[in-house]
Amino acid sequence: MAEIIDGKKISQEIKDEVKNKVEHLKEDGIEVTLAVILVGNDPASGVYVNNKKKACEYTGMRSVSYELAEDTKEEELLQLIDELNADNSVDGILVQLPLPKQINEDRVIRRISPDKDVDGFHPESVGRLSIGERGFVSCTPAGVIELLKRSNTVIDGKECVVIGRSNIVGKPMSMLLLRENGTVTICHSHTKDLREVTKRADILVVAIGKPMMIDASYVKEGATVIDVGIHRTGEGNKLCGDCDYASVSQVAGKITPVPGGVGPMTIAMLMVNTLQASLMHHGRV
Ligand code: GUN
Repeated sequence: MAEIIDGKKISQEIKDEVKNKVEHLKEDGIEVTLAVILVGNDPASGVYVNNKKKACEYTGMRSVSYELAEDTKEEELLQLIDELNADNSVDGILVQLPLPKQINEDRVIRRISPDKDVDGFHPESVGRLSIGERGFVSCTPAGVIELLKRSNTVIDGKECVVIGRSNIVGKPMSMLLLRENGTVTICHSHTKDLREVTKRADILVVAIGKPMMIDASYVKEGATVIDVGIHRTGEGNKLCGDCDYASVSQVAGKITPVPGGVGPMTIAMLMVNTLQASLMHHGRV
């Protein structure tokens, strides 16, 4: 049976480390501040934003919250971002996605100052990651790296396979594994023989967005399997990932559960990024 990588415990450790640093900054009169913008009534986004605000409270950060109506015009949102970019009391800006259809997400992401881009979605942040410069990294893949490191999983020299090539997870995930000296392969919907590729992986990161798609037949004996997916299943509305946990955990060496694996890490890394933004803003790094 695979060892469980406990994302709940690891994310708690990270939040406590951040909390400690935030307290020290407070003693120097610096209040770490995250601006959180939610547009519209998407219930899942509402839950995520609330959890982000709660994490700010826990770590001692100030959060300033903007809840805009579903029919908000793109120009209004861009204007708010301009104001927050110019506001010296704000360290990080987070616009919860998805946005209502009248708003172009790309234009919104590009409008956030790269210095305050704690989600790491701005093309400048993405570019910095790919050329190995310091910058903000998308929270979910950054969280996966922390899960690997804090569970003593060696990345250097290992065969790493990422399934999924999204801008938020798959692509930055591959760049991060490469930065850690992994040998990285990215698979996607056009990959010819998926099983043949995933079977080579020492570290398999699954971010396909299809409930329970990956079973033991895709996994090498002893591999570390990170499941980024989260879905609600028909029966009893239970949560599941992109992996069939019962099956994969029979062959994997280590595995992340759903819930309690990657999920809690995303918010913990948002706290890390916001602290980083504040340190940079105040010339502390
Ligand atoms: N929607 C789903 N995931 C994310 C995320 O990581 N950040 C933001 N801003 N919106 C999201």
